[in-house]
Amino acid sequence: MARHLITSAIPYINGIKHLGNLVGSQLPADLYARYQRARGNEVMFLCATDEHGTPAELAAAKAGKPVAEYCKDMHAVQSEIAKGFRLSFDHFGRSSSPQNHKLTQHLAGRLADAGLIREVSEKQVYSHADKRFLPDRYIEGTCPNCGYDKARGDQCENCTKQLDPTDLIDPRSAISGSTDLEVRETKHLYLRQSDMRGKLQDWIDSKTDWPILTTSIAKKWLNDGDGLQDRGITRDLDWGIPVKKGEEDWPGMEGKVFYVWFDAPIEYIACAGEWAEAHGKTDADWERWWRTDRGADDVRYTQFMGKDNVPFHTLSFPATILGSGEDWKLVDYIKSFNYLNYDGGQFSTSQGRGVFMDQALAILPADYWRWWLLSHAPESSDSEFTWENFQGSVNKDLADVLGNFASRVTKFCRSKFSEEVPANGTPGDRETRLIADLEKGLREYEAHMNAIEVRKSAAALRGLWVLGNEYLQDVAPWTTFKEDPDAAAMQIRIALNLIRFYAVISSPFIPDASAQLLTAMKDEEATWPADVASAITALPVGHAFLVPEVTFRKISDEERAGWQEQFSGVRT
Ligand code: MF3
Ligand code: ZN
Repeated sequence: MARHLITSAIPYINGIKHLGNLVGSQLPADLYARYQRARGNEVMFLCATDEHGTPAELAAAKAGKPVAEYCKDMHAVQSEIAKGFRLSFDHFGRSSSPQNHKLTQHLAGRLADAGLIREVSEKQVYSHADKRFLPDRYIEGTCPNCGYDKARGDQCENCTKQLDPTDLIDPRSAISGSTDLEVRETKHLYLRQSDMRGKLQDWIDSKTDWPILTTSIAKKWLNDGDGLQDRGITRDLDWGIPVKKGEEDWPGMEGKVFYVWFDAPIEYIACAGEWAEAHGKTDADWERWWRTDRGADDVRYTQFMGKDNVPFHTLSFPATILGSGEDWKLVDYIKSFNYLNYDGGQFSTSQGRGVFMDQALAILPADYWRWWLLSHAPESSDSEFTWENFQGSVNKDLADVLGNFASRVTKFCRSKFSEEVPANGTPGDRETRLIADLEKGLREYEAHMNAIEVRKSAAALRGLWVLGNEYLQDVAPWTTFKEDPDAAAMQIRIALNLIRFYAVISSPFIPDASAQLLTAMKDEEATWPADVASAITALPVGHAFLVPEVTFRKISDEERAGWQEQFSGVRT
């Protein structure tokens, strides 16, 4: 039995995620976790909310709540929605957990002891009205280059010039609008990532099987002079993990917190500790997933994320892990994704453009979305959600091909025989061919799933559904029944078994439909098929079944047009 540690990039706390976020990390991670469990492997699947940083503070202020309370509430909201999408996390943690505080401070201490941290004095803008230092992008003013009056302290959106906040003419706080600003001297910690260039380079070079999307981004940053610069890992904010060296105070760092991108990936590890606490387990129980000196040697660790997250996972987080000198598990495989666009533009959280996870569940069950998103995952390039395409996939793949197969077969059997697998009849050449085709298709499907080729897996699975439909079309039991009821019984016996077979192998994609079909076939415990020949005789003659409720319904043109209209604007 193999052991799989699987993490999804942890979503920001400030608001409900859109379908583009979902398909870029959490959903494919869930597909893989479900698949590995279905294959009988041991899985630890972790995700959490990413709770620190200025955006979280601002969102809390906007909601009129203390930031800790806002985060607690939003964690509950995101957790519920994740359940709605059937994301099967073993634990959905929080980067603000005590475990993450402790581990982040511990790792910073180890990095300091290893000489990998230096202190840097820098000038930063302080806002008296807001009583805080302002991150560059929260300072606005007039661009010295083009005169645009809403340029941000990091960049002018109008002429794209990279700026420093001190370049801005008439600078003001983007939070309060106040111009009562002062440049102050402040001290920060920097991680000497540049010292680790050689180690990181060797590590990345050894990953010859990684997706090009992942390694090309990693190599670009490694080799680009700017990429592996030392990185500030502290911030002057109230909300976050206080800067400490292990359990000790860090002189000169009073009132400062770690940078959100320093503590967020550490939550991957801390989350396992939260899992242990939530389930009354010991430290040894989670460490066997994460510590190579405590049993994690044979664990395969796979991370899922959107392409914008790749530099943090290929360079920064490994620098933290390697620099600590401790035996933490490094990632074995990074699966990254391009972007999903929405109807001719981009999904956008800040602009409220597109379909958000809660809205999606309000209009259709999770499986419909899971199927479309996964079968159109933005793997080799960006992909696009359109309502026409969504309607087409649901109506064809799910309703016509899979759903209709199950209902036709069970209804026909009920009306001509009974609600039991019928006896008599002997399989012939057509059945031999069917089994051979399914066997080949199943192996292809498994190979794509093992390789985390999401779209190819979906296509292979659909191909298996189609084979059953073609078989039914060819042998036409409703016609056969008139001259040779025994032959029809044999055909239906095979088809009933195919429903069970499809339910099992489709479960990583469409878990609810799969469970519903297995309930109808009265075989909830069915396990992954070893081979097709035995799988399609698994339900013996006389085995009772039920006609399933409609597994998938079609989306009408009116509905589609209505949603198109409803989601054409922005969410407020
Ligand atoms: N919150 C980040 C995002 O949504 C992802 C953080 S992943 C981790 O882009 F590495 F920090 F964990
Ligand atoms: Zn400009």
